Amino acid sequence: MYRSNTCGELRQSDAGKKVTLAGWVQRARKMGGMTFVDLRDRYGITQVVFNNEVNPALCDKANKLGREYVVQITGTVAERSSKNAKMPTGDIEIIADELRVLNKSLVPPFTIEENTDGGDDLRMKYRYLDLRRQNVRSNLELRHKMAFEIRRYLDSKGFLEIETPVLVKSTPEGARDFVVPSRMNPGEFYALPQSPQLFKQLLMVSGFDRYFQLAKCFRDEDLRADRQPEFTQVDCEMSFVEQEDVIEMFEGLVKHIFKYVKNIDFTEPFPRMTWADAMQQYGSDKPDIRFGMKFVELTDLVKGKGFSVMDDAELTVGICVPGAAGYTRKQLDELTEFVKRPQVGAKGLVYVKLNADGSVKSSVGKFFSDDELKAWGEKMGAKPGDLLLIMSGKAIPTRKQLCELRLEMGNRLGLRPKNVFAPLWVIDFPLFEWDDETQRFYAMHHPFTSPKPEDIPLLHSNTGDVRANAYDIVVNGTELGGGSIRIHDSELQDTMFELLGFTKERAHEQFGFLMDAFQYGAPPHGGLALGFDRFVSILAELDTIRDVIAFPKNNSGRDVMNESPSPIDDSQLEELQLKLDLKAPKA
Ligand code: AMO
Repeated sequence: MYRSNTCGELRQSDAGKKVTLAGWVQRARKMGGMTFVDLRDRYGITQVVFNNEVNPALCDKANKLGREYVVQITGTVAERSSKNAKMPTGDIEIIADELRVLNKSLVPPFTIEENTDGGDDLRMKYRYLDLRRQNVRSNLELRHKMAFEIRRYLDSKGFLEIETPVLVKSTPEGARDFVVPSRMNPGEFYALPQSPQLFKQLLMVSGFDRYFQLAKCFRDEDLRADRQPEFTQVDCEMSFVEQEDVIEMFEGLVKHIFKYVKNIDFTEPFPRMTWADAMQQYGSDKPDIRFGMKFVELTDLVKGKGFSVMDDAELTVGICVPGAAGYTRKQLDELTEFVKRPQVGAKGLVYVKLNADGSVKSSVGKFFSDDELKAWGEKMGAKPGDLLLIMSGKAIPTRKQLCELRLEMGNRLGLRPKNVFAPLWVIDFPLFEWDDETQRFYAMHHPFTSPKPEDIPLLHSNTGDVRANAYDIVVNGTELGGGSIRIHDSELQDTMFELLGFTKERAHEQFGFLMDAFQYGAPPHGGLALGFDRFVSILAELDTIRDVIAFPKNNSGRDVMNESPSPIDDSQLEELQLKLDLKAPKA
């Protein structure tokens, strides 16, 4: 028996018990004739005491322990004279009478503590040590707890968890695929699934009615704080449902998890916003509605006054920042720098300070009278003491840039607290998205998303205006999940492929199996997938999903711990009948 108790378990009521603990040495310190060792395992930390007067040999052994040594200690639980209220085991200590070193450790490259001295890169390289830290481990504990409860909840609603393949057929829509060469079929490749989309639809054709899966998904796309090349979805599909049924089911799941994890009751239905309103009022399809500062368009008001930036702009739009008229020159310069950063990409920023004393100060005071500037403020619902921030340019990029600025102002003013949660459904997405570069329409969600029945007559005449039966759930400005009601009619699916520029042959080559399946009685169906990593990180109040993934990749898609991706042996290439022809030398 290695241990009788864990390091997080013993309390004052255990005083007098003989116990054996096993764990890692968090730290050892010598004080006078005593040596104190903090022993750590997954469950907590317990203080162990060695008394030089009572047992000098044992104390000597304890003095030689290094950080992260793995040890077994036997002793008696005793009430501490100086208690530590911050530790659950802080009322007791173990008076040791046996010590066995189970394993030594090198000095770890950073301290295994909540506020470690290790930087990001170092902690990623030694991720197995990073995972010993309580705060990192508790994120994974939360992840486990949520996964378990999601499974339980969906099971109670009649969903079956069914695994779908990881080696699948490459399909061109969406993000880039990761591909895997097939040795048995030289020159041919599998793709790793970007999501189980087609399989879950096939399961509906098979009559499973309610499917879910905690599914690994793979996408070769640029990484950000909320994106990893491999991530997990709570992927679901239901038969004989309309949009309202799917929304209701998963709103129920999300509310249940908020209650279960955070004890937060959302008693009202989550608010809903159309995609068009979200874009117009927030410049984003995933607005953070924890705070206001909605966009107000000023285009008509500002034109014709000789300020060419605004005269020539397709759109002039602004936000009113409450109580920020006191912003200094330096702060305003910082904001201008912020919007000019390549990530935001604006050319500049116009400000109007509506001072509390009624005076007005603006970067475009030369072109507009005070009364004109005050009229802007009126249109924007501003009060004395408010600051107007205004941008001009082509409509779509300008809205995106102002969206970034709005979020930045939200951050600066402390309006985005991580412990306040504002879920929202964004509905009525457009079915198609036009791409200027390739001069064609793309499916905004995916090619199996159904149009709103009332918009079907517009499919050919006003393709860009057709709305989809698609919905996203957004929390605090992050897209938590998305889904749609699918097309289950082969004729409509053919029209969709045609509009997306697929020839009949190509559509058949890519999606033939699904189109064939649909000819054998596909039920009306729809579903949704929640980003599980994002869900956990939002509830853990973290900035990045990396912190809720045991072994994540860095921003270049590398696992710096196991050094992947890595070259493979020539013999492996030969077996696969592949030759490399690298255009760019490896960085
Ligand atoms: P979608 O592409 O919107 O829909 O993905 C669903 C959710 O998955 C999460 N997500 C990611 N999380 C981490 N890293 C990534 N790279 C990443 N990409 C997406 C997001 C997103 O909302 N098959 C459809 C769902 C459906 O229609 O039922 C799908 O995959 O939280």
